[in-house]
Amino acid sequence: MGGDFHASDLTRRSFVASSAGLVASAAAGPTLAQAAGGMRRVIIDTDPGVDDAFALLLAMRSPELKIEGITPVAGNVPLALTLPNALRMVEIAGRSDIPVAAGADKPLERRLVTATYAHGENGLGGAIFPVPKLKPIADPASDFIRRIVRKYPGEVTLITLGPQTNVATAIASDPGLAKLVKGVVMMGGSLSGGNVTPAAEFNIYVDPEAARIVFQSGIPLTMVGLDVTRKTALTAAHLERLQAAGTPVAKAAAQIASNTINQNRAQGYLKGPNMHDPLAMAAFLDPSLLTWKDYYVDIETKGELTAGETVGYSPIQGDQPRRADMVREAAERMAIRGSAPSLGGATISPVLRDKYVPNTRVAMDVDSARFFELLIGRLAGKA
Ligand code: BDR
Ligand code: CA
Repeated sequence: MGGDFHASDLTRRSFVASSAGLVASAAAGPTLAQAAGGMRRVIIDTDPGVDDAFALLLAMRSPELKIEGITPVAGNVPLALTLPNALRMVEIAGRSDIPVAAGADKPLERRLVTATYAHGENGLGGAIFPVPKLKPIADPASDFIRRIVRKYPGEVTLITLGPQTNVATAIASDPGLAKLVKGVVMMGGSLSGGNVTPAAEFNIYVDPEAARIVFQSGIPLTMVGLDVTRKTALTAAHLERLQAAGTPVAKAAAQIASNTINQNRAQGYLKGPNMHDPLAMAAFLDPSLLTWKDYYVDIETKGELTAGETVGYSPIQGDQPRRADMVREAAERMAIRGSAPSLGGATISPVLRDKYVPNTRVAMDVDSARFFELLIGRLAGKA
């Protein structure tokens, strides 16, 4: 399906057909995927990060994934911490076969904003693990992404769990690359308000220029944003199950969880932390955990109050159903316009896109109980 996509020729039909393919193949789960001989190639781009660490452990405990590599980026904490934290998770999972390539240490055009208030100064909620013995490979992350995508054209899905600096750098430096990427499945964005500012979710807020490159790339996008990840609070019962399991992965997850729960409670939170990034990983493993709707999504990069907002547009809005043929027709006629003309400048508002074409499958709701069954079940499972 990767070959069907290009920024300039992405049609609604090809987006829907290909997204359906992505969903159907993911829903097949481990048994069917493996029976078909198909482990699914992924690169995980991440900024560990408490919930990133959980997502990495989940991925490394998921037999249906062929993890081609992990590319840490600066985000929740500086790269000097996200890189060793990723290496630590790889060692704990006994997966030193997975290459780790160091990514960007700052956003494309901005100073780095971190989230130590949520992830602790060390990025793992204060849970201490030994200095990793494993070293990163020599390639920088963006070169590594390019090399692997070109080696397996149309096969590699990029799972992004942090600011999208590495992916944007890879795409921007290689014009033919985007159409060779199977898809991007991201934790990022929100159509229902932000968590850093009223408008922006953290991963997009930190590097909106990078996110804009990704959203305008023509790669089929799957967005697992705050709309659903806010419904994924880790509980004491989950922690107990991890503690009881006793495997290295479960022990590490329990240590990170217990530190973070204590930190959260000390800050007055009654619930959480939320498992944002593991939900994006789970969405790739089993999209039937969520409900979905197609949108055209772009990134606000200029707004004084809104930089980093994911702005979603759909011809099917609200609760007034319309005949399917009329929805199609309206979509075809629907241009995407920018802000109203100012008094001294242009006389009409600019047309940013002459036609509405969805570029993103957005997660709208989640079956949280089933999600946690997958997450905790795999983390607590026997090695
Ligand atoms: C996202 O921001 C980070 O703090 C988390 O790791 C997650 O990727 C949630 O907004
Ligand atoms: Ca993250």
